[in-house]
Amino acid sequence: MELPMVDVSLLGQDSNEKSIVIKQIQEACQTWGAFHVINHGVSEAVIQAAMEVNRNFFDLPEMMKKEILELGSRDMFSPVKLLTFQRSARGSDLLQRDLVRLYANPFEDFIDFWPTHPADYREKMGRYTKDVRKLGITLFGAIMESLNLGPTHLQENFDKGMHMVIANSYSPPTPESSIKIGVAPHSDHGIITILLQSSPGLEVLDMADGKWKALPCPEGSLQVLVGDHLELLSNGIYKSVFHRATLSTRTTRMSLASFHNFELDEVVEPATELTAEDCPKRYEGCSTRDLIKDIYSGEVGRLIDRLKI
Ligand code: OGA
Ligand code: NI
Repeated sequence: MELPMVDVSLLGQDSNEKSIVIKQIQEACQTWGAFHVINHGVSEAVIQAAMEVNRNFFDLPEMMKKEILELGSRDMFSPVKLLTFQRSARGSDLLQRDLVRLYANPFEDFIDFWPTHPADYREKMGRYTKDVRKLGITLFGAIMESLNLGPTHLQENFDKGMHMVIANSYSPPTPESSIKIGVAPHSDHGIITILLQSSPGLEVLDMADGKWKALPCPEGSLQVLVGDHLELLSNGIYKSVFHRATLSTRTTRMSLASFHNFELDEVVEPATELTAEDCPKRYEGCSTRDLIKDIYSGEVGRLIDRLKI
């Protein structure tokens, strides 16, 4: 599958090249709702350190992880840490998906809630989180530009926004297990998700033929996914991408998913610049809180679809 490979370093240039990249982003967001990024400013060393420190965290004795877990709250909106260990049972198959969820913006407000073990966890995840946030801000500007909204459209609101990072660890299934999927099909709630994968597994739904397509993770690249809030903000010009993750059969697969959002209670509306008499507003506004709440509500279907006018 040929997703565009966006060279982020070219966005820093005031040139023809920049406009080519913006165009690439525009096409990718319209066609796939996803693209790769390279030269993205998150160094290989920072990436490897973040992966390693999460692997070491997941390898800690259960007792120790539980202790850390108990410090966290299970409240989906607790403005803190939250470390969840999830074991989902489907039929008789047990699937082990461990995850750590970290709030990360403003950084100083949350770092004190992050795990203290391994000892270098905060330092290494902190570096990754800060660098990937910087990338998120750059991409947000480029995406706004690709919608002809101007590079500073809603920039301040986005800068203040919520940044949530989830480290996922998926154990391989037992040979008898029929489970092949680590994360069921869904779209992400935010503006964009920036995904780092230890090994391939991500699949996206091809809107053209309705088939799942495996998305490779070329060396040094990160994957960017369009979320529900960007679909809404763009008045449906961009579509949030349905995706799922398959399990790796032999090794534990890890991923770091970095969700970039507006502030929890900021109500996002379709940009008025993207509506006109012959192109009316196509969604009711909603906040990040509404979108997250809906995931846990047991409601059928997605909030973003129910908000369609
Ligand atoms: C997610 C997600 C995919 C993966 O956490 O929302 O889609 O590869 N993860 O872990
Ligand atoms: Ni996702």
